[in-house]
Amino acid sequence: MSHEPLTVEATSQDVAAWKGDCLVVGVYQGGKAQKSLHLAGAPVEQAVTRALKDKWLTGKTGEILILPAPYHGEGHFRRVLLLGLGKRREITPESLRAAGGHVVAAAHKNRIERLLLLPSLDRHNMGRLAGAEALAEGALLGAYRFEHYRKKKSPDKTSHPRQLDLAIRLEQRSKLVKRLQRTTTVVRGVTLARDLANHPGNVVDPDYLARLARELGERLPIKTTILDEQDLRQAGMNGILAVGQGSTKPPRLIIMEYRNGGETPPLAVVGKAITFDSGGLSLKPPAKMEEMKYDMSGGAAVFGFLQAIAELKLPINVVGLVPTAENMPSGTAQRPGDVIRTAKGLFVEVINTDAEGRLILADALHHAEIFEPKAVIDLATLTGACTIALGHHCCGLLSNHDGLAKKVAWAGRKAGERTWRLPMFPEYRKVLESTIADLKNVGDQGAGTITAACFLSRFVGPDRPWVHLDIAGTAWEHTGRPHIAKGSAGFGVRLLCRLARTFKD
Ligand code: BES
Ligand code: MN
Ligand code: ZN
Repeated sequence: MSHEPLTVEATSQDVAAWKGDCLVVGVYQGGKAQKSLHLAGAPVEQAVTRALKDKWLTGKTGEILILPAPYHGEGHFRRVLLLGLGKRREITPESLRAAGGHVVAAAHKNRIERLLLLPSLDRHNMGRLAGAEALAEGALLGAYRFEHYRKKKSPDKTSHPRQLDLAIRLEQRSKLVKRLQRTTTVVRGVTLARDLANHPGNVVDPDYLARLARELGERLPIKTTILDEQDLRQAGMNGILAVGQGSTKPPRLIIMEYRNGGETPPLAVVGKAITFDSGGLSLKPPAKMEEMKYDMSGGAAVFGFLQAIAELKLPINVVGLVPTAENMPSGTAQRPGDVIRTAKGLFVEVINTDAEGRLILADALHHAEIFEPKAVIDLATLTGACTIALGHHCCGLLSNHDGLAKKVAWAGRKAGERTWRLPMFPEYRKVLESTIADLKNVGDQGAGTITAACFLSRFVGPDRPWVHLDIAGTAWEHTGRPHIAKGSAGFGVRLLCRLARTFKD
């Protein structure tokens, strides 16, 4: 983020005496203002009631109306922002995240810097704390802007929302303060992941990611190990090497260890980081190829996640593994038909050089075994087929372990990053049989997301609980939502953080 980030705070001070730019009042569909409106004082209450009676705003989700505050005295807020929250009974954490996003969007547009949110005082369909947290999370996520490459400043850059106060009852204030600190840290992790994927391939390359990992290691209690080309060769990681060999930028395996959970086995998170996927010699068509800079979103999520848990000092052990390479066509690139020996010893016939993610993940998943993790979760923009199957509203989840699959799906639901499980029936594995090697890297019988997961499963240790998240459809936001701007969504960071908090046994 190139401007100062938005800060959120919990306040229990007298609403009517609050000093700031704008008071935010929630309105439910049907035109009813939220209960706690009276706290703003009679003049404000009257002005709002009149506006609603005249149907200036009906309370539909995302509707915004800004009124001048009736009292303009020195140090008093000058505007009242009415915020449509939708039907009261249908309010969910996700709808409140969106509402938070709508508020900051309106603040940007109208050059409002300091806001006080009254909707945080209502119970909605959840506890007050959960509701306030969701509003804050949506606002923080929605305040994200990627402005590294504009010489000309966008007009809303000079004035933007800087502070959001959430009104809360005094007895709940300290609890909310803690939650807001956590949320802020998690969103900082999301921001890191978004930035990494939004930067183009000429900036974020394998070496950039390696340097970032070292920086995280210096700033936080994270032990960073980088395997360079020579190390990869020594370890026999020819999956990673083969994918990277067509590029002038050498591949790497980045390992980040965060240990704050005593002797318990770690959670291993593995993220695909192809910093640009041209397809290699099995070259992709030009349309939308520029989007393939985001083919490192899985790795980006691992970075965001590790930063967040280390800043939160969670009492757990986590190992992050990020295999990273650039997939390019050239005289040194791998050919369709090449056979490579992976670190596990399995030989793979490379039918299609565009199915490169699974080749780098094969070595990383195998390497994860040396940590004897209690569970392995990988995130990868692995298949276009996943976008065909599920679109952009949930990611694919494939697993060899029902218990872990359920936990991950639960964490995703709670975090607002949904997953949907696809089957891995044994029959699907057959299409990966090669005539000359142990397996080939693509099948030809449809179900591309499933067969890709079947390929990965061959490199996961026996009986190791493992979940694969295919984030090809969710890592990139195409339309733009209130709390998720167009571009990288930073998908996976919030899910992983939610999971990590429950992952103590
Ligand atoms: N990175 C792509 C998957 C992808 C495609 C993500 C479109 C997001 C949008 C991956 O490396 C890839 O190219 N997969 C191939 C696999 C195929 C060759 C079996 C694909 O999906 O076409
Ligand atoms: Mn590819
Ligand atoms: Zn790819």
